Amino acid sequence: MKFFVDTADLKEIKDLASTGLLDGVTTNPSLVAKSGAANFVELIREIAAIVPGPVSAEVGATDYETMYEEAKVLAKIAKNIAVKVPLTPAGLKVCKQLSENGTMVNVTLCFSAAQAILAAKAGATFVSPFVGRLDDIGSDGMNLISEICQVYSNYPAFKTEVLVASVRSPQHVVSAALLGAHVATIPPKVIRQLFDHPLTDKGIAQFVADWQKCGQKILP
Ligand code: E4P
Repeated sequence: MKFFVDTADLKEIKDLASTGLLDGVTTNPSLVAKSGAANFVELIREIAAIVPGPVSAEVGATDYETMYEEAKVLAKIAKNIAVKVPLTPAGLKVCKQLSENGTMVNVTLCFSAAQAILAAKAGATFVSPFVGRLDDIGSDGMNLISEICQVYSNYPAFKTEVLVASVRSPQHVVSAALLGAHVATIPPKVIRQLFDHPLTDKGIAQFVADWQKCGQKILP
């Protein structure tokens, strides 16, 4: 399973990239606004230089013509850019054209298996179903991941990867992995939570204490 970090915060991206466990980055307009960056294109250029894997950069427009022009600018920033477009008729039209030209596309704001089928037919590299936002309205986000994974596995010609988005907890990551989702995009805080277990902390404390007691050394 690939891990993308869901943030536009350069400091967080650099820190998490140094773990060697990061496969990519996703941003969206809200995350860019939160980062306080002055220049979106420059921000994406910097992120793409830190992480070699796919960096999702989202268009701002909603009409086909403007979206397509924006997408061309974003795609030129670096080889590892995945242009992010919304799951609308115009977004999928842009997706089809970009993917035919070899540009990676992340189709975002997916909330149904029907939409995920459309994204795959449009040649999306990634489809982003938002599990947390579905849970928030009393629906079952992980059930959507299950449906999409099952549908895609019925059609080997579909090459679109399921990118689980709107992740809120380590349990979301584990559930998505159990279902065989290709990617999870995870907020920095949740990536750090993945490392945590009280028995790991307790075990380390015990080993450190015993090691000091026995006076052994590894380094000369
Ligand atoms: C990622 O591509 C999405 O934009 C993101 O995961 C949305 O998460 P949220 O529902 O926490 O805003």
